Amino acid sequence: MRNVIAILSLLSTSVLASEWQPDWSSNAKVKPGTTRENIYQLDEEQLKEVKKDGYIHALKWPVTVTGLLIPYEPLKNFLEEEKKNPLRRFVEKIAERKLGYTDMDGMYEWLGLNKYPERDVPDVFQIPYPEDYKPDYRMGASILDMPNGKGMTYSCATCHSGTFLGKSVMGLTNKRPRANEFFVMAKKYVPLIPSGFFRVATGATHGEKAMFKKTKNNLKFVDAVAPQVLGLDTSLPHVSLSLAKRMDDEYATKKSPRRSRRQQRQKPKLKTFVADSKPMPWWNLKYKTRWLSDGSVVAGNPILTNFLWNELGRGTDLKELEKWMKDNQETITEITAAAFATKAPRWTDFFPADSIDYEGAKRGEVVFNESCKKCHGTYEKGWSLPNANELTLEERLTTTKVIYHEQTPVKDVGTDPNRWMATKEFSGALNKLAISKWMKTVVEPQKGYVPPPLEGVFLRYPYLHNNSVPNLCALMEHPSRRPKQFVQGPSTKPEHYDQDCVGYPVGDKIPKEWWKEKEAIFNATKPGLLNIGHSKAFYDENGKPKMTEAQKKDLRSYLKTL
Ligand code: HEC
Ligand code: HEC
Repeated sequence: MRNVIAILSLLSTSVLASEWQPDWSSNAKVKPGTTRENIYQLDEEQLKEVKKDGYIHALKWPVTVTGLLIPYEPLKNFLEEEKKNPLRRFVEKIAERKLGYTDMDGMYEWLGLNKYPERDVPDVFQIPYPEDYKPDYRMGASILDMPNGKGMTYSCATCHSGTFLGKSVMGLTNKRPRANEFFVMAKKYVPLIPSGFFRVATGATHGEKAMFKKTKNNLKFVDAVAPQVLGLDTSLPHVSLSLAKRMDDEYATKKSPRRSRRQQRQKPKLKTFVADSKPMPWWNLKYKTRWLSDGSVVAGNPILTNFLWNELGRGTDLKELEKWMKDNQETITEITAAAFATKAPRWTDFFPADSIDYEGAKRGEVVFNESCKKCHGTYEKGWSLPNANELTLEERLTTTKVIYHEQTPVKDVGTDPNRWMATKEFSGALNKLAISKWMKTVVEPQKGYVPPPLEGVFLRYPYLHNNSVPNLCALMEHPSRRPKQFVQGPSTKPEHYDQDCVGYPVGDKIPKEWWKEKEAIFNATKPGLLNIGHSKAFYDENGKPKMTEAQKKDLRSYLKTL
């Protein structure tokens, strides 16, 4: 602990108090071959400590002025008393269905939260605990000690931590989050619950009742839509629709704007226009200079942007949020440092090195450099080092250097356009906010998406910004022959992952029990979910293949090593 304090004070003199800040402007450049992995240029020990503290903030929501807190003890009573609880009976009656869970862990499971790892796991899988003990809650659940009592909310890790074959990974996309559905439900039912009834039915204190009342009021300024399918996220419409519930002054004051009848009848576009996308992995940040799948956040620290978006989605007062940001620079610095320092797990962290066709991967590198590197960058391999024959197989498979673009490009390769089109709906309203100006964040609508760096790509299935392609075999297939349906199942067992195709099993290989989960069935014929585009590297205009099947297999072997 003393160590941490010493380092923090060092930090506040060397990083925070100094004028020096990373370049967050739209002119920012990352010299190809270098990275911003250590974005505040800390020494090794400092970085290690700061990364740990930063992850803790990402796991336990640090924003004490947050608009959404659910009184924790009353919630627990509500869930665990089951039939006895009058509030539960009331909610189940108006919802006309039973809640599927009867305790906190059941709710976390429903929310798609993943479990904390044990303490003694290899480095890549290490995730710090917010308290001194292994938490009995899951990653993303945040239980904050507030003056009014314990309040629960969720954190960055809800969407940005995932599991693969039973191992938890920080910065990996959560493949099955229900954060947005949670809001849709809260929006629907919470306003119907009188605060007095809430208190009596759950045994809440007066403080907890006040917390409930505040959340209930904030929910008036929140609007959300449920994702089309499990695994996708609707944060973007959520922010846009919530902003539209407020006044259009520079602090988006929480008063319902006055609208004409005609305006009232008109539904905001993003209520129905599908703009779902997946949470993105954190280990690519170090290579990039602009943010989000469409690269539309062209300036500003992306971590601040994420706090703003999250809090707009929770009905928070923006003056209070701005003050919180100004007063908590250290927290923001730590979480920024941590996110940028996140490392991609490797194939060999899960599977033996000899499960990769080594010679095939080397041939695949040639194919990649011919067809893919101009957009996705170059990945130098251990096998090309002068002393490669002295290295172990695992060492030869490592990536020794990534050479990505100096400035992150956006390309339109014909994939589903909805997500980039949706940015137009609210970039103006966001840029206008006083807090955006203070954050120096600029959102500019784009045409197309960022070709992402491909480290850890074997873990990022299903592919493309909208999850529409279940595995790399399908990505290399002509769009007309890509599977129209697959299931976003929980990849907990090895047989639930197709090692050859790199991703979800398709067709007959889909485990039977997965089909039972209707909300996990991906239908790539729906608007916003189309599995089109990204085929020019594989097929010419007449649909004639540019690669043989053997070359595609080699290419997949190579991609596994990234
Ligand atoms: C409810 C789910 C959710 C939560 C909670 C969440 N994010 Fe995200 N995040 C997303 C989604 C979805 C995207 C990608 C959106 C897109 O580009 O279409 C994203 C994108 C990002 C990106 C941009 C990545 C890139 O390569 O450009 C960063 C950085 C990020 N999130 C950090 C955070 C941080 C920090 C927090 C906590 C303050 C957070 N997120 C909380 C869903 C979430
Ligand atoms: C003209 C630029 C361009 C070329 C060439 C290109 N890609 Fe892409 N790639 C993109 C863009 C843009 C995206 C993001 C599209 C989206 O999300 O809708 C992408 C996405 C991907 C993804 C999905 C990543 C993820 O996390 O979901 C993979 C895998 C991929 N490309 C592999 C390849 C391979 C392999 C090649 C070479 C055969 C290649 N790409 C050639 C532009 C390109």
